Amino acid sequence: MAIIASSAAFADGHAAPEAEVLHYWTSGGEARSVAVLQEEFAANGGTWTDMPVAGGGGDAAGTALRARVLAGNAPTAAQIKGPAIQEWYEEGVLADISEVAEANNWSGILPEAIAGHMQCDGTWCAAPVNVHRVDWIWANAEVLEANGIEMPTTWDEFNAAAETLQAAGVIPLAHGGQAWQDATVFEAVALGILGADGFRKAFVELDMDTIKSDDMIAVFDQMRTMRGYVDDNFSGRDWNLATAMVMNGEAAFQIMGDWAKGEFMAAGKVPGEDFLCLSTPGDGFLYNVDSFAMFAVDGDDKQAGQALLAELVVGESFQEVFNLNKGSIPVRTDVALDNFDSCATLSADDMAASNEGGSLLPSYAHGMALRGAQAGAITDTVTAHFNSDMSSEDAVQMLADAIANSL
Ligand code: GAL
Repeated sequence: MAIIASSAAFADGHAAPEAEVLHYWTSGGEARSVAVLQEEFAANGGTWTDMPVAGGGGDAAGTALRARVLAGNAPTAAQIKGPAIQEWYEEGVLADISEVAEANNWSGILPEAIAGHMQCDGTWCAAPVNVHRVDWIWANAEVLEANGIEMPTTWDEFNAAAETLQAAGVIPLAHGGQAWQDATVFEAVALGILGADGFRKAFVELDMDTIKSDDMIAVFDQMRTMRGYVDDNFSGRDWNLATAMVMNGEAAFQIMGDWAKGEFMAAGKVPGEDFLCLSTPGDGFLYNVDSFAMFAVDGDDKQAGQALLAELVVGESFQEVFNLNKGSIPVRTDVALDNFDSCATLSADDMAASNEGGSLLPSYAHGMALRGAQAGAITDTVTAHFNSDMSSEDAVQMLADAIANSL
């Protein structure tokens, strides 16, 4: 495994840091955020070669990355998250960035739950960028006020609000019909109905009793109800276009991770005034941490680039500026949130409280909880149910079978 020295080792200038970075940040807010990293990289003497792969959620990027690695042409770094990091490590293609991590005291400034995701067999193999929360409801403030609706705190309240909106000719739920977006809504609903322990049992531990439970039937029942609140043109829509529907008042709500806030911010919208944010009903916090893994590539220039990239990504200034744009919160525990908005401070407070209370949970839909085969089995079931008239009982059976077959 290639060991990347900290950038101090390249300080004699014999190497010109360079990096080809594969990622899937192409929406307005996402592109604005990754530009922060590109600028900082260049400002520190690095040469960045961008390899963006469009497609929210990262499925297309994952396919492109696999093709590159199999062709023996791995990028210098790639946006890889959760257990997929360890899956790539087990293929022997990742670089060890422990020297960078130790030189910058990562274990002292990162939450333990998240630091663990960045390690492979006791070495550091990825650099974390942020903490996104997945379980959010976003709303158009004016539309809610015009219809006398408060932000819902239970799924029953959500359904009642949706009925009122539908009667008034407003699309209740802006949604993009893509499997990962169906899965994002599903896990938020599951957290609210199963509770944090039930969610952990089902989507982290794959406990079959919980997967086959009446509560899981209730989760699919709620998904069926919500299928009735999306518009006829939802199929295939990109997530940021659904966010735009809430922004322009065409729709009232969207259930999406706080990368959606990055879109509102990129459009100059003001949280609490133009749009509202609240966690979806239920206790708990579903986290999704973006990270960059470094591939074992030859050449001092690329290794200097990897050291610089890893240091910048976890660096204090980047952690603030990037996350102000991206909609997430800093992963570093020592970055002040004075410049962050009310949604971000709510996220940080809830993260701390759920970490205390044992309800800080890895997102399954965004690749933080399970390996690809198991996560894919769940998502295939969820989207098959959402896009058909399958009964909840049949969906639960399909879910149990799909997971069992994926093991
Ligand atoms: C997530 C990713 C986020 C955001 C989102 C939409 O998987 O972690 O950073 O970009 O997809 O593309």
